[in-house]
Amino acid sequence: MMAADQTVHGVPPSLSAKVVGSFAYLTVRDRLPTILTKVIDTIHRNKNKFFEEYGEEGIQAEKQTIGLLSKMRNELQTDKPVIPLTDSLQDAECWNQYLQKHQKLHGDQESVSWFKSPWLYVECYMYRRIHEALWLNPPISDYDVFNEGKTQGFFESQQAVMTICTHLEGINSNIENLSKNQLFEHFNKLLQVSLWGNKCDLSISAGQDNSQKTSPIDSLVSLQPLILVNDSNAVWSTLISAQTHARSEKTTVRVDIVLDNAGFELVTDLVLADFLVSSGLAHEVHFHGKSIPWFVSDVTAHDFQWTIQQTMAANHKCMSKIGYQWKSHLKDGVWSYHDHPFWTQPHEFCDMAADAPDLYANLQGADLVLFKGDLNYRKLVGDRDWDHTVGFGTALQGFGPAPLCSLRTLKANVQVGLQPGQAEKLTSHEPDWMTCGKYAVIQFYSSKAEQKD
Ligand code: F6P
Ligand code: MG
Repeated sequence: MMAADQTVHGVPPSLSAKVVGSFAYLTVRDRLPTILTKVIDTIHRNKNKFFEEYGEEGIQAEKQTIGLLSKMRNELQTDKPVIPLTDSLQDAECWNQYLQKHQKLHGDQESVSWFKSPWLYVECYMYRRIHEALWLNPPISDYDVFNEGKTQGFFESQQAVMTICTHLEGINSNIENLSKNQLFEHFNKLLQVSLWGNKCDLSISAGQDNSQKTSPIDSLVSLQPLILVNDSNAVWSTLISAQTHARSEKTTVRVDIVLDNAGFELVTDLVLADFLVSSGLAHEVHFHGKSIPWFVSDVTAHDFQWTIQQTMAANHKCMSKIGYQWKSHLKDGVWSYHDHPFWTQPHEFCDMAADAPDLYANLQGADLVLFKGDLNYRKLVGDRDWDHTVGFGTALQGFGPAPLCSLRTLKANVQVGLQPGQAEKLTSHEPDWMTCGKYAVIQFYSSKAEQKD
């Protein structure tokens, strides 16, 4: 781990709310307290439900959880020290060690605190503390306070979900007759649909509706110029060479998708995964989700299963047919869902090999890993103040278990791998290009010879 405010061995400082006026500062000052207030309101609104389910005990749990969350909001707003976790969950020790490490870097003079420490760390910590507040209060320990928003996001995107399912069904019904070029075109479109699906997260909008309302396929052409880095050819070549290799070695091609948000984005990821399998580009898809509710809209195991159930149960022929297909992919082991505590820890991914060697070794078994979304991008590049022209490979700081690609719409002020002058041009037209969610990247890296930097 590097000190938060200086460049060490060419690695720039972590983004932090200590830079007054920065996006990190505004997030910690405004957006995080708004999210916490919504969490508190949601718990309060569900008071009767807790009473019906658990009687007086439910009411007590509601009160105490709200008490803990209000205390945390106050700690945040007054820049109090980050305190150790007190629950006995599996990862609590790891979080507390991480705090100690950061405290050592700060020295004796200054505490690790909400506005002074790395933004990535404190933002992750907030979601872990929300989980702690609930966990310490059975019988509502397992309550997912973000569930309502995620469910709503899915239902509000129904029209777009039906369109994309109908599109997929059209491809699947004729898939054996498609030429390689036609497959490539479909692949490109579905990769971009999955990319733009990432616009629909609920963290950037502090929980406000952010669902997909327009046709995802029709929008692609007009969105094309907003893709600042587009390495989709390299992603395609990786899949094709994995396929060739698998044929000669009689093995299988495995693609991993490190998921981000539930709702429309998850559907776009499942559609892409379905296409990969039905086209024979991949034989297995491993999905990686979160083991606790995270960054408002991120996918948990429950969201994953629920989405497939809802797709099956839809009153729309193509959608329902595709839902059943997804269920059988899971049943047959062609698809599998995995979670690991590392995904809900605050570490940069370059720490994975040392801090979660089992997960790193697991990812090494993939032919391609797709990382969805903004938070995964921040963790890939360490959430640091990189120069925009630094290569993606450099910013990964040694992380590279397999060829990987980030599919991300930009919602935080970090971006690497741009052409000289590209960032300056964007800034002159649109100063908030990195945070407005309008731009995107399909950014690839492989440590093999074909790598870009
Ligand atoms: O700053 C916006 C933010 O809250 C970031 O903290 C986080 O990176 C992002 O939203 C979440 O977006 P995504 O769901 O794409 O990871
Ligand atoms: Mg998210």
